[in-house]
Amino acid sequence: MAESVQNIRRVVWLMFFAVLFACPAMAVSIPSGGISSFEEWEKAFNKWDSGRAEWKQPRMAPNKLPFPVDYRDWRVLSVSHHEDQESIRVILGNDVAIRAAREKRFTPWPEGAMLIKVLWRQRRLPTWKESWVPAEILGVGIMYKDREQFADTLGWGFSLWQSEHFELPEDFNTDVQGCVQCHSPLKDSDYVFTVPAIFP
Ligand code: HEC
Repeated sequence: MAESVQNIRRVVWLMFFAVLFACPAMAVSIPSGGISSFEEWEKAFNKWDSGRAEWKQPRMAPNKLPFPVDYRDWRVLSVSHHEDQESIRVILGNDVAIRAAREKRFTPWPEGAMLIKVLWRQRRLPTWKESWVPAEILGVGIMYKDREQFADTLGWGFSLWQSEHFELPEDFNTDVQGCVQCHSPLKDSDYVFTVPAIFP
């Protein structure tokens, strides 16, 4: 009797591992509460690493604003924390934007400047409760300065790629209208909220 129970257990475990290995995506999904241990981080990193070839495929939003596949190498302009939306953001700039910031030429921002906001849901650091750190990826928001191409949207091309899979919102144009609406009062700062952070 005890032996047959053991056999059943063995079969159940085998089935469990078979499913796990057959579905790599299941085995390595980013935990929704964030990454707390090195093992979790390593799994998430490996998943990112194995998906890199796919993520480097050129992607284009319907307004012809391409997704800059090299944005992970860009430099930081600033960071922000939204209390109400419980999210943490980093604002990055391409070379044109970083140069403009350092030369104090960002009212208006020069043609070709691209600003990227990466958003993560916030979570408390398990090892230090007062510290808020990134959890899962919420999306990547883009603004690209081209007065002519994007004359209808404040001279900036807007796009938002959601989640770690970089999906566009279903109703892209309505979404862009939302971007324009919220950014449009900022005429004096060329419709940009961020002022470059001053680094020590
Ligand atoms: C309800 C208001 C609101 C809406 C809607 C909105 N933004 Fe923003 N955006 C902000 C604020 C506030 C900031 C300043 C940084 C921060 O705190 O996140 C910002 C910052 C940014 C930045 C960094 C440059 C800057 O202006 O500071 C980018 C890029 C950006 N938003 C893109 C978008 C895109 C793309 C959309 C539409 C999909 C969008 N935003 C919609 C409020 C908004």
